[in-house]
Amino acid sequence: MIIAIDGPAAAGKGTLAKRIAATLQLPYLDTGILYRATAKRVLEAGGNPEDVSTALTAAQSLSAADLARNDLRDAATSKAASQVASIAAVRQALLDFQRHFGTAHGAVLDGRDIGTIIFPQADIKLFVTASVEARAQRRYQEFCARGETVALAEVIADVQARDEADRTRTAAPLMMARDATLIDTTDMDADTAFACALALIHGKTT
Ligand code: CDP
Repeated sequence: MIIAIDGPAAAGKGTLAKRIAATLQLPYLDTGILYRATAKRVLEAGGNPEDVSTALTAAQSLSAADLARNDLRDAATSKAASQVASIAAVRQALLDFQRHFGTAHGAVLDGRDIGTIIFPQADIKLFVTASVEARAQRRYQEFCARGETVALAEVIADVQARDEADRTRTAAPLMMARDATLIDTTDMDADTAFACALALIHGKTT
């Protein structure tokens, strides 16, 4: 079974996807990590994340250790991830890895283009979103929990700018697949979102 979970920044896709994967005993892939790790390699080498050949070389040389890093979620890496992700050649370089990951034993994958490009035939497609205020507030709490100092207004601006870039790029723009089910978590806590998603999955698979 392939479960595709897409949506804008900080919508709670990761939390939801991990829980669904654990419950259904499926492998889980956070595909955002691929773009974040690519961006980190570029930034650490002093490169420009908008430069096609620099970003492509970084994407092609990703290792398991790059993906396992725990310093990929800061604001600069998030912005650069969105920049490398807008490059078609980078997306192409990361495509096979994502498809292979899912095809062996089934999987839950979260990202921006899972239901549209990576697995258009996914068994279940969820599009998880929330108001920009709710999403920025959650991201702000994550920064605070990690001890990073950042202003809420800055987080709102970053989330809005990244959503705009992700939605308007030509390469695999963020959009809801026609056959996806929308889950708006603005007024839902994580438990409610999980219960809602699980009910949808059971409804479609039994
Ligand atoms: O956790 P958050 O929703 O903020 O971001 P993420 O899922 O880690 O993705 C970081 C960036 O990678 C996004 O802003 C997208 O530009 C890009 N991305 C993408 O283009 N396609 C994916 N399947 C996953 C992420």
